[in-house]
Amino acid sequence: MSAPRIAVVGSINLDLVVRAPHLPAPGETVGGATFARYPGGKGANQALAARRLGAEVALWGCVGADAFAGEALALLRADGVNLDHCRARDDAPTGVALIAVAESSENQIVVAPGANALLAPSDVGAIEADALLCQLEVPVETNLAAAQSFHGFFAINLAPAAPVPDALIARADLVTVNEGEAACYGDALSAAKSMVAITYGAEGATLFRQGEEIARARPPKIVARDTTGAGDTFSAALTLALIEGSAPEAALTFACIAGALAATREGAQPAMPTRAEVDALLART
Ligand code: RIB
Repeated sequence: MSAPRIAVVGSINLDLVVRAPHLPAPGETVGGATFARYPGGKGANQALAARRLGAEVALWGCVGADAFAGEALALLRADGVNLDHCRARDDAPTGVALIAVAESSENQIVVAPGANALLAPSDVGAIEADALLCQLEVPVETNLAAAQSFHGFFAINLAPAAPVPDALIARADLVTVNEGEAACYGDALSAAKSMVAITYGAEGATLFRQGEEIARARPPKIVARDTTGAGDTFSAALTLALIEGSAPEAALTFACIAGALAATREGAQPAMPTRAEVDALLART
C-alpha cells in the first residue's frame, strides 16, 4: 500500500528558545536560563510530524533569503519533506518565534511572522494529495483559497486563535483546537458540520461530529519536558490516522500518543516521534 499523501500549507519559523526556572510575569527579568534554536512554525511542524509518522508530505510556505531559512528548513529536508513549493523571499525575514519554556514545561510564545505573512493565494496552485492540512500562521485568504480549490480531506488547526471566515470551517472535514482556542470559537465549532477535535493537555482529547461526542482518548502518563509542538503533532497524527481509515477512537488514541511523545523531549521538531515510537507505545497501552 502506498503512503498517504499530505499537503501542508503553513508557516515556517526558527524557534529561539530559552529554558528558564519559571515564566516571566510582565516586566519581570528571569535569569539562569539556557538557550537553543530549533526549526519550528506550525506548518513546518505539522509537515514534519506527518512525515515521521509515515506520510508523503509536501509543504507550501515562505522563508526569507537569510541565514535563518536554512536552519528552519533543515529537519524537513533531512526527513524528506518535499520543499519544492517553499519560496525564499528577499523582502521579508524568515519567521521567528521567541519561546520561553519553564521547568514545569509550560511555555510562552511570541511570533514575528516575517515571510510567512507574504504567502499569497497565488503561491498555492493546484494541490494533489489525499489530505490538506492548514493552520492560522499564514494569511487566512491563502488557507481559504487552498481549501476551496482542493478536493480531498481538508483539516484545519485553528491555531493560534484568530477570526476566520465561516466558509473555512464549512469546508473542513476536521478542525483541531486546544481547550483555550475552542473557547474563542464557541458556537462556530459546536455548529460545525465537520469533525472537531479538542485537546485538553494531559487530560487527552475529545472528538465531536456535528456537536455530538464520537470518541474520547487519554494520553499515556509521561513526564512532560516541553509541550511546544505537541499540538502540531496531534493535528498531523489525527489527520493521517483518519485518512488511513482508522475508526475515530483509534485515530484519536494514536494522535494523543503521538502528541504526548512530542512533549517528552525539548524543541518542536526535534521532539516529534516516528511511527515506530508511536506504535510501540500504543502496543503497551
Ligand atoms: O505550535 C508551536 C509552534 O508555534 C512553534 O514551533 C513556533 O514556531 C510557533 O509557531
